[in-house]
Amino acid sequence: MTKYILALDQGTTSSRAILFDHAGRPHASAQREFRQIFPQPGWVEHDANEIWASQEGVLHQVLRDSGVAASDVAAIGVTNQRETTVLWDRATGEPVANAIVWQDRRNAAYCEQLVEQGKADVIQQKTGLVLDAYFSATKLKWLLDNVPGARARAERGELAFGTVDSWLIYKMSGAHLTDTSNAARTMLFNIHTLQWDTDLLALLDIPASLLPDVVPSSGVAAHTHAALLGVSVPIAGIAGDQQAATFGQACLKPGMAKNTYGTGCFMLMNVGKRPLPSKNRLLTTVGWSLGAGSDKTDYLLEGSAFIAGAAVQWMRDGIGIIRDSSEVEALATSVPDSGGLVFVPAFAGLGAPYWDPYARGTLIGITRGTGKAHIARAALEGVAYQNVDVLSAMQDDAGIGLSELRVDGGAARNDMLMQFQADILNVPVVRPVVTETTALGAAYLAGLAVGFWESQEEIAAQWQVGRRFEPKMAADERLSRLHKWQRAVERSRDWSE
Ligand code: G3P
Repeated sequence: MTKYILALDQGTTSSRAILFDHAGRPHASAQREFRQIFPQPGWVEHDANEIWASQEGVLHQVLRDSGVAASDVAAIGVTNQRETTVLWDRATGEPVANAIVWQDRRNAAYCEQLVEQGKADVIQQKTGLVLDAYFSATKLKWLLDNVPGARARAERGELAFGTVDSWLIYKMSGAHLTDTSNAARTMLFNIHTLQWDTDLLALLDIPASLLPDVVPSSGVAAHTHAALLGVSVPIAGIAGDQQAATFGQACLKPGMAKNTYGTGCFMLMNVGKRPLPSKNRLLTTVGWSLGAGSDKTDYLLEGSAFIAGAAVQWMRDGIGIIRDSSEVEALATSVPDSGGLVFVPAFAGLGAPYWDPYARGTLIGITRGTGKAHIARAALEGVAYQNVDVLSAMQDDAGIGLSELRVDGGAARNDMLMQFQADILNVPVVRPVVTETTALGAAYLAGLAVGFWESQEEIAAQWQVGRRFEPKMAADERLSRLHKWQRAVERSRDWSE
């Protein structure tokens, strides 16, 4: 029997490759960063060829460094930064422009026009998304309208669109496809029928010939060109990174939720086999499809705060109160509390449930006694407070209380932050032994498809608690802190023009 599943995790700032063994443990990994391109304020681009070069590089490196033969890889799982939009020439395989990254806001004004035309409701009803420049549709429209000749070439059927999963799979196999979880982030995909939506394509003037075929997240979707690894390996798992992390955290039953602390915070809750519309401006999204049809599809509610680890980076690179991100916990715990300081890390506006692009970071309550340790503590607390707003929206939408929140991502290693998170949510926070949940989720989806793992039950049994943080804060203290936080959020809103 083959020994490993190879997960490719193509993130916003780096590409990773991790080999997982049958116990769901990482056996070896490799990681490579690539260039971020900021042509104008609010614009973020990637060179799709650099994305591929970094991903191909780590794919070979992880096998080489670990001495694992490609013939010992049962399948490949692909997971990726979502929404980022690639447009390429079908004949040459060359991108026609830089990829437009999910963080890019260039089409915010166009989205506002669509809102004014009353299109937000129909878009939410069909796609589960809040009409916003975050998603792929308006990025693709921008490329068609602004890259010389692109629209005419698209209409002649010469171009292909894809999110990063599609692009990587195209490079590895020549197939042009995506899975339901990535399709659900384009704002062109009907999450009820699990098909591209012709009305939305017409509304946004997107030729259907550009679109990839949509396949289940788990299933043999393509085989790698033999030239890539010497043998042809099935590509059998595909999912957007946050959905993959939810699967990797074994949130396989309705009411189970995870929060990933990366650049931002992404909280997702399993809501079962039917898309649950949000009354609170959260996103309803496809989690994963384990086969064709909606009875094989799990849906999620999602809320994200744009800034988490980025607040720590700002303390390091922006104001220099730490030299290394790892110092933040010691600095924050060198004081017993934030001394009344509240920090709303709305550097890039506020995400769910506010969706206020004009909010800005706010530090309030400064006194003569405020020092850098108070700022560090308030920043970490601010990261945690944002999740209270998201979780209460989620519990209200789902009509259930959460029994625990599973956590992962870089900042989830910070014990002080995790304890405060449990305290302020008043919900236990649980960090698993394996925190590489995004790559693991993609590996699980691939491994299930080729019989490397037998069932979801087997996967759920592999998930193990690393550390559990129980809420300890008294109710009156929690409520008075949350009241202060809400007042600080109000002051952060509607700041930039
Ligand atoms: O929606 C964007 C998200 O998929 C990005 O995740 O981990 O690449 O920052 P990450």
